[in-house]
Amino acid sequence: TTGLVTLDPGFVNTAACSSEICFIDGDAGILRYRGYPIEQLAEKSTFIEVSYLLIYGELPNQTQLDEFTSKISRHTLLHEDLKRFFDGFPRDAHPMPVLSSAVSALSTFYQDSLWPFDQDHVEISTIRLLAKLPTIAAYAYKKSVGQPFLYPDNSLGLVENFLRMTFGFPAEPYEVDPDLARALDLLFILHADHEQNCSTSTVRLVGSSEANLFASISAGINALFGPLHGGANSAVLEMLERIRDDGGDVGDFVKRVKNKEEGVKLMGFGHRVYKNYDPRAAIIKKTADDILTRLGGDDSLLDLAKQLEEHALADDYFVERKLYPNVDFYTGLIYRAMGFPTKFFTVLFALGRLPGWIAHWREMMNDPATKIGRPRQVYTGHTERDYVAMSGR
Ligand code: SDX
Repeated sequence: TTGLVTLDPGFVNTAACSSEICFIDGDAGILRYRGYPIEQLAEKSTFIEVSYLLIYGELPNQTQLDEFTSKISRHTLLHEDLKRFFDGFPRDAHPMPVLSSAVSALSTFYQDSLWPFDQDHVEISTIRLLAKLPTIAAYAYKKSVGQPFLYPDNSLGLVENFLRMTFGFPAEPYEVDPDLARALDLLFILHADHEQNCSTSTVRLVGSSEANLFASISAGINALFGPLHGGANSAVLEMLERIRDDGGDVGDFVKRVKNKEEGVKLMGFGHRVYKNYDPRAAIIKKTADDILTRLGGDDSLLDLAKQLEEHALADDYFVERKLYPNVDFYTGLIYRAMGFPTKFFTVLFALGRLPGWIAHWREMMNDPATKIGRPRQVYTGHTERDYVAMSGR
C-alpha cells in the first residue's frame, strides 16, 4: 500500500493483448502453434514449414511451401554496402548488438517497402528478414573469428545455408552434416514462438506506433539479449562450467542458490508462465543425448546438468516455487556441441524466434484489437507539493 492505492498483484499480470498465434497452458505444460501441439511439430515438421504456419496461420501445401522456400532463397544476399558494416564492428563485439544494428539498417536499404499497411511491402519485408537474418548471423560469426565471408548457396535449405556460411571456408568444399542440420532445425522449431514473452511484446509495442517491421524486429533482438530472457542459454553453460571448475559439487551450488547469494541463480530454471516442466525442455532433453553422442559433445557438462536437475527437482525450495527446467537449460550444451561459441547461443535463439516475432507484428498490424495499448501505471510517488527555492533546500 502506498497510501494512494493498494497494489493488487493481479494488476501486474493483466492480459496484454489477444492473439491467435500461440497457446500456452503454464500449469499443464502445454504449448501449441496455431493449435498444433509442439510435440507433433517437433517430430513431423521443419523450421521453414513452421515459419509459414506461424506467419500465415495454416500448414502450407506443397506448392505454397515450394513457393515460400524459393522466394526466401532469392533474398539471402546482403547489399554490398550493408556487408561493409561488418568492417566497422570490433572483432570482439557481442553478436547480438551487431544483429540488431544490421536488422535496423535494413530499413535504410529498402526505403521503398516500409509502409506497414501495404501488404506487398509487408510481404517483401517478411521474406527479406527470413532470408537475410541467417546471413547476418553467419557474417557476425565470421567477423568474430577473422575469417572470410561466404556468399549464400541458394541450392541449400535455410538451415543448411546458415551452417555452410557459418562453418564453411572459401578454400574448400563444406559438406553440411545432415544430423547437425536436423538438430538445429528442431531447436529453431522449439524457439519459433512463445506468446507474449519479453521480446515478442517488445516487437508488438514498437510496431504499435506503426514503426516498420525491421525497426520492430531490431527492438525485439535487443530485448532478447537480456540474460533473464534470451541470454539465459549462454548463462546456463557459464553456470555449468563454473560448477565443474569449482570441483563439480552440485549440492554446494544448490545451497548457494537457496541462500540467494548475490548473482547466483539456477539459470535455465523457472519461467514466468510455466509452473510445470517446459514442454520444449522435455523434447530437448530427450534429443540431447542422441545429438551429443552423434556430435561428440561434452558429456561431463550434460551429466552435471542432469545431476543439477535431479537435485533441484527433489528439493522443496524449487518445488514450492514451481521452478522447473525451461527451454534454455539444455540448449546451450547442444549449441556448444555443434561448434558455436557461447556468446552466439542467443543469436541462435533469435534466428529461431524470428518467424514468431514477424507473425505477431503482422497480426497486430492487421487487427488493431490485438494491439498492446499504451500501458498505464499506478502512481506511487509524492502527492502535489510546491516548488522549494534553493535557499530552502
Ligand atoms: C525464456 O516468457 C517467455 O516465454 C520466455 C521464454 C521464451 O521462449 O521466450 O520462455 C524464454 O526467457 C526462458 C527463461 C530464461 N531465463 C532463465 O532461465 C533465467 C533464470 N530464471 C529466472 O530469472 C526466473 O525464473 C524467470 C525470470 C525466468 C521467471 O521468474 P518468475 O517465475 O517471475 O519468478 P520470480 O522472479 O517472481 O521468483 C519467484 C521465486 C523467487 O524466490 P522468493 O523471492 O519467492 O524466495 O523463485 C525464485 C525467486 O528468487 N526464482 C529462482 C529462479 N527463478 C525464480 N531462484 C533460483 N533460480 C532461478 N532460476
